Amino acid sequence: MPSYNKNIPVFLSEAEIKAKVKEIAAQITKEFGDEEITLIGTLKGSFVFLADLSRELTMPTRIEFLGVSSYGDQTHSSGEVKVTLDLTAPLNDKNVVLVEDIVDTGLTLSFVLEYLNARKPKKIKTASLLFKKVALKAKNLTIDYVGFEIPNRFVVGYGLDYAEHYRGLPYIGTLD
Ligand code: IMP
Ligand code: MG
Repeated sequence: MPSYNKNIPVFLSEAEIKAKVKEIAAQITKEFGDEEITLIGTLKGSFVFLADLSRELTMPTRIEFLGVSSYGDQTHSSGEVKVTLDLTAPLNDKNVVLVEDIVDTGLTLSFVLEYLNARKPKKIKTASLLFKKVALKAKNLTIDYVGFEIPNRFVVGYGLDYAEHYRGLPYIGTLD
């Protein structure tokens, strides 16, 4: 058996994540009821969370991805963000839920929000599975649905990577 993922200690288990995803889906349902929403996942990290979240929702959903990458090294973002893959449909008059894996400095989220708001959605809400509150640098940033507030540690798995490794780990583990 390959041992690639064996040494990553569990920080949030599959069961804890699953329960939290259900809670966030319930909050989104409370907000939008049966109205159609567009889930926009920021690539690459949010693909697992978005896949699980979408399967807990019962209203009509559209799925979009926005490729963003922040310049910087593997564990620190510089705050300069570039769009590497754009949306496939207009957002005007759409209900949007932006789906993020993690908000660290918040600089990516604040860039993405501005980028999406320029497309004049009807309403936009933000969901992030993880939130490193102590690392937040962006001002006036609202995260409507936060999964877990976590300390300033480097985490991997459930879509999150370290240098493109560990995205497929089914739980969230620590790497520091
Ligand atoms: P920001 O600092 O909020 O702009 O976050 C930028 C990006 O850094 C996130 O979307 C993640 O891709 C990455 N990132 C921040 N913290 C972690 C972590 O603990 N593990 C993996 N990636 C992280
Ligand atoms: Mg990353």
